[in-house]
Amino acid sequence: MSAMTNRLDTSRPAREHLLLQTYKQFDENPPMPEIAALRDGAKQFVPGAGSFTPKAILIGEAPGAREDQFGAPFVGKSGRFLDELLLAANLSRDEVWITNVVKYRPKANRTPDPVEIDASLSLLRRELALVAGDQCRLIVGLGRVACCAVAGKPISVTQAHGSVRSLKGDWRLFISYHPSAGLRDKGTRRAMIADFDVLGQILKGRDA
Ligand code: URA
Repeated sequence: MSAMTNRLDTSRPAREHLLLQTYKQFDENPPMPEIAALRDGAKQFVPGAGSFTPKAILIGEAPGAREDQFGAPFVGKSGRFLDELLLAANLSRDEVWITNVVKYRPKANRTPDPVEIDASLSLLRRELALVAGDQCRLIVGLGRVACCAVAGKPISVTQAHGSVRSLKGDWRLFISYHPSAGLRDKGTRRAMIADFDVLGQILKGRDA
């Protein structure tokens, strides 16, 4: 995904409509048998949610059980922690776009495999182009799977969290842990809150 998307100058309602169509097309005609298998093992497709004029686009790994149940990203325990993190960055859910690399819950919450991730990237690229429109160029990668998928290369989140990488097409990637890691470990939780404080400073200093 290192080659990001071209700018789209269409109006917000047009972008919203195109995104819904794109989601529907993916769900009805999955690009690979591996994605069809994921879809068939999940309750539903979990789309992204939030603003079509976002200050940042947050990307997680794949839906968990609550997300699968409700059809929205980050609505379980990780989502509650994500709300705290957004607060640390002076953001609310309606100022950002939140989505996942993989749009179906893998059974038993296993990590999506490389084939499933690769087969989901064209949808993610299209989603980013449609949601970002002409203004937002800042992605927040939540955890290794999202950061590596977006950067198109390995990233050590332990080493790089709290920092920004430049990507093609003017995009920038802010690196942090996955919220579930912050729920498991107090040190990671503190590090994530500090990361999101930095994110808030970045957003204050410059329109992204
Ligand atoms: N974990 C994720 O990566 N995404 C969600 O939407 C929920 C939990």
